[in-house]
Amino acid sequence: MDPLDFTGRAVVVTGGTRGIGAAIAAAFHAAGADVLICGRTPPAQPSPAQPSPAQPSPAQPPPGPHAPTPAAATSSSAASPPQSALPVVPPPGSAAGLPSIEFFQADVRDPAQVVALIGAAHDRFGRLDVVINNAGGSPQVPAATASPRLHAKIIELNLIAPLHVAQAANAVMREQDSGGVILMIGSVSGTRPSPGTAAYGAAKAGLHHLATSLAAEWAPKVRVNSLVVGPVEATSTLPAGPVEAMPTLPAGPAVKAAAGSAGKTMAAGRVRMPATASAGMPGSADGDLAAGPGERRVAGEGGPASTVARTVPMGRGATAAEVASACLLLASPLAGYISGASLAVHGGGEWPAYLADVRDTAYRAQK
Ligand SMILES: NC(=O)c1ccc[n+]([C@@H]2O[C@H](COP(=O)([O-])OP(=O)(O)OC[C@H]3O[C@@H](n4cnc5c(N)ncnc54)[C@H](OP(=O)(O)O)[C@@H]3O)[C@@H](O)[C@H]2O)c1
Repeated sequence: MDPLDFTGRAVVVTGGTRGIGAAIAAAFHAAGADVLICGRTPPAQPSPAQPSPAQPSPAQPPPGPHAPTPAAATSSSAASPPQSALPVVPPPGSAAGLPSIEFFQADVRDPAQVVALIGAAHDRFGRLDVVINNAGGSPQVPAATASPRLHAKIIELNLIAPLHVAQAANAVMREQDSGGVILMIGSVSGTRPSPGTAAYGAAKAGLHHLATSLAAEWAPKVRVNSLVVGPVEATSTLPAGPVEAMPTLPAGPAVKAAAGSAGKTMAAGRVRMPATASAGMPGSADGDLAAGPGERRVAGEGGPASTVARTVPMGRGATAAEVASACLLLASPLAGYISGASLAVHGGGEWPAYLADVRDTAYRAQK
């Protein structure tokens, strides 16, 4: 059996609508998995056709056992994101013999929406095998003058939210004979000083550590690892696919019980996925965490390609697909005894500045 064949496996990728998350979603999709991605905003839609959200889709899959009544589906709370009206097209994933990638609208900083996300995946796929905590990022801000609110929001997105996602995922995975795998997309910013993104670096350092604690608590059923990712440069795309209006779903009972939200129904949009995305694109949906024009959203991860080429031993940043490959490996049975570990995906790290002269003479000369 091919250990990298994920056919029949259910995978959730937070922030999978673009960038590294899109590449991870595409990689698991290509490996045969059922994939659910999330974000605060739906991915870009390729078709101008916009049916009413009230119109049922003929291609719509049957609702899960906890599908809400129409009244519940249309009810909203302060924590509930808006539903989306999206075009309906035939599922090309099925034509290609592949499952579809689906999108669930959720802000991972809201624990109730996280419960709804994991519940939707469990209801839709009947299982949950892999969860990738990918959503994250930060603008470049001086630690001396950044507002307390911004600092808190950066920590919330990059550390607290992955904990909530992991907690909800574990509640499902621990009940499965096959357990599950949770991966944290960390950063080199969490392993060395991170000037300009101090709160982000501290959050990523905490994330790496969090993985070790969760791995210890949740073994042997659930493996938890982090990836220490260096600068990522190349673009990646999700497979072209259908966009389908879906009903809202409440969280499954196991997830609700674990999160202490039994009985609460979330209204969050879920659609099948089409989109194209590129790694390193500036974010936009959150004013506080968005980068300015021309800036990288994940500031401090690399800077210009020339800087990366000079400092990273491999001479370039990673492609998003290379990060995705590392996720496939860690989620596979090949990594069956790897838990509580950090895998560096950074092209050899960063050449020490105090050895720059040596590199430019001896090291470069050897190439
Ligand atoms: N890019 C790099 O060079 C690099 C290097 C090392 C590590 N990383 C890490 O890799 C991960 C992905 O980075 P990226 O550069 O691919 O980011 P990106 O292109 O900005 O994409 C971020 C994704 O996360 C989603 N997201 C953001 N906030 C969210 C929230 N509150 N709730 C739900 N989804 C949210 C975004 O969708 P919405 O905006 O619609 O919510 C989007 O899908 C991050 O954890 C980052 O720290 C990146």
